[in-house]
Amino acid sequence: MNTPVVAPSLLAADHGAFAQGVRAVEEAGLTWLHLDIMDGHFVPNISFGPQVVADLRPLTRLHFDVHLMLSHPDRYVAAFAKAGAERLTVHVEAEHDMAKTLAAIRSAGLKAGIAMNPDADPRRVLPFLDDVDLVLCMTVFPGFGGQSFMPSVLPSLRLIAAERTRLGLDFRLEVDGGINAETGRLCRDAGADTLVAGTAFFKAPDRPAFVRALTA
Ligand code: DX5
Ligand code: ZN
Repeated sequence: MNTPVVAPSLLAADHGAFAQGVRAVEEAGLTWLHLDIMDGHFVPNISFGPQVVADLRPLTRLHFDVHLMLSHPDRYVAAFAKAGAERLTVHVEAEHDMAKTLAAIRSAGLKAGIAMNPDADPRRVLPFLDDVDLVLCMTVFPGFGGQSFMPSVLPSLRLIAAERTRLGLDFRLEVDGGINAETGRLCRDAGADTLVAGTAFFKAPDRPAFVRALTA
């Protein structure tokens, strides 16, 4: 069993003061930071790129969990590796050769993740389970923070968690989108161990208490 991890998404922080957002994550006693990279093509929004990741790298020892919402994630593996990402997650819906991209991520020395949208057939990730360190089940359609959690994803989580047990694997099972204390509990019960939280983390009146609720 993986220990539960909360990974706040910097997307929900003040984009004019990312360093303060990073500090807030450290002050809550956390060790991961989720970085949402959007290209305005794979998703309708644009966030930030490798230069922001590189400039944040010397400020913190937080684990940089980078979620690539890009049509061509394979073209940016080297740039994010150089910027200091430690984990790169790429979508099944993007235009690339998944096996090759996962291999490129690992040969750059990073942990590799595979992501899918809420409407994806979870069986699409099964052929890659041996080759990943993380499976990300999006619990909203990617592109924007602050959306409502989609409980329809829970059966996918259960299926992937069951396969993980059956195959004796230990990849992390991550959820992202609309995660708060209540929806986080549903995901944990379905097998998720890695919880991305943007809005709910940055808006929490007592962030350490919020984290305790998610990891209890
Ligand atoms: C959505 C992003 C998420 C998002 C989560 O496209 O991948 O990481 O920031 O934000 P909340 O927690 O606000 O739903
Ligand atoms: Zn994300």
